[in-house]
Amino acid sequence: GSRYFGDIVHGELGKDLFRYHGFVMMVAVAVLVFVMYMGCVILFTKFSYRHFLNRQRLEFWWTIVPMLMLVGLWFPSMINLYYMEEVKRPRWNFKAIGKQWYWSYEFCRNLDTPSSSESAESISCYTIDSYMEDQQETFSKGGYRLLDVDNRMVAPADVQMTAFVSSSDVLHSFALPKLLIKVDAIPGRINRLPMKASQCSIIYGQCSEICGVNHSFMPIVIEFIPEKYFVMWLEALN
Ligand code: CUA
Repeated sequence: GSRYFGDIVHGELGKDLFRYHGFVMMVAVAVLVFVMYMGCVILFTKFSYRHFLNRQRLEFWWTIVPMLMLVGLWFPSMINLYYMEEVKRPRWNFKAIGKQWYWSYEFCRNLDTPSSSESAESISCYTIDSYMEDQQETFSKGGYRLLDVDNRMVAPADVQMTAFVSSSDVLHSFALPKLLIKVDAIPGRINRLPMKASQCSIIYGQCSEICGVNHSFMPIVIEFIPEKYFVMWLEALN
């Protein structure tokens, strides 16, 4: 289960993204410190360069060094971008369809990859609709206001999945900050991305694209449980 509200439950990619963020911050702070230091030096220096015309070597380096820095930022960023699109070999396909104003979820076993157990073989697909829970009910249960739903999506933890996101009416956005996922749900188009939660947890998200009057009232809740129990749960449903 979840340890507290807002666990970070990313797969292996999340670690790379955090590392990249730290790297960018390091470079940015170094540049800022250097520029401010040079600014101070120029402000307080007593020399005046009235007859100064050019310094070729200095100009060469202040062109080359920022260029190298940009390349250094670009390269790991490209690797991350590549892996953010790389769906690998998913065992389950998960589909989220934005509707005015709720989410429809579909779960299908990926038939191209071997399933985890024999009982999973027989399972094909199932669908649920997930509305925001009645406020009074949320209060009486001590849930999260505007975040809890009547039907939680259940998904296997620590398993490679592919998420397909689409919409049946207007633009929505499927956002799960704790999974580092935010993808637009566009009518007539399916966005595909890899999805993997590194641990069992309950993850909250919200629609993140203004989609009408009830935009604020179509939360997303996904409960990640061990795959063994997930398969049992699917069997019970069928
Ligand atoms: Cu759906 Cu905002």
